[in-house]
Amino acid sequence: MIFLAGLVGFVLALTAEARVGDSSNSKLCTETKECLLFDLVCETSTYQVRRYDSVKWVSTNESSYFFEIAAPKMFSKLFKYITGENEEGQKIEMTSPVVVRIPEKRIWEKGEYTMSFLLPSEHQSNPPKPTNEDVYIKETPEMNVYLKSYGGWITTMSDNIKSNALSSALDAANAAYKKGSHYAVGYNSPMTILKRNNEVWYMVEGDPVCDTSE
Ligand SMILES: *[C@@H]1O[C@H](CO)[C@@H](O)[C@H](O)[C@H]1NC(C)=O
Repeated sequence: MIFLAGLVGFVLALTAEARVGDSSNSKLCTETKECLLFDLVCETSTYQVRRYDSVKWVSTNESSYFFEIAAPKMFSKLFKYITGENEEGQKIEMTSPVVVRIPEKRIWEKGEYTMSFLLPSEHQSNPPKPTNEDVYIKETPEMNVYLKSYGGWITTMSDNIKSNALSSALDAANAAYKKGSHYAVGYNSPMTILKRNNEVWYMVEGDPVCDTSE
């Protein structure tokens, strides 16, 4: 019983830390007031596992051949939403990170990209309705992700290299993850030139795996 009570207390403490919160609680996001908080589950020399709470995002899709073509179109639609293109005409603060779902496809095929902005805490419970029919509100469930950080810019090339490296590391560790797409995650505005921080994410399937050698 005591063990169980301790466990429940531990879980509550964990969830209280997660969600959307002040960026001073995160070394990763330095350019916005609020950001997506997480719990570090475990870490290896080649990847990290994090747990995120269920949160709401504003998202849009774009069918395209290239990230470079899809990303600015999606960014512009979401930026309009946060600068007032919503039913209440509300201005909504920018948060980080910005997450793009990248379809894993052949280069000559079109794929469906999805960009999402995290809604700030004050709009999590009741987000203003988008007026552009391409823009929608989405809630992600509590999730575990495998990830790797990298600097510089997110491009088709850098994302490809990093996602291939991460999926190879996960395969080598016998870690199960969702195939078919991954996520390119950016923490900086396009104006930031130096010390840019990006991540590639794969969604964990089943229990996260960190170390099989022990
Ligand atoms: C956006 O793309 C995702 C991934 O392909 C898909 O599951 C979702 O249904 C799409 N949503 C809309 C509104 O088109």
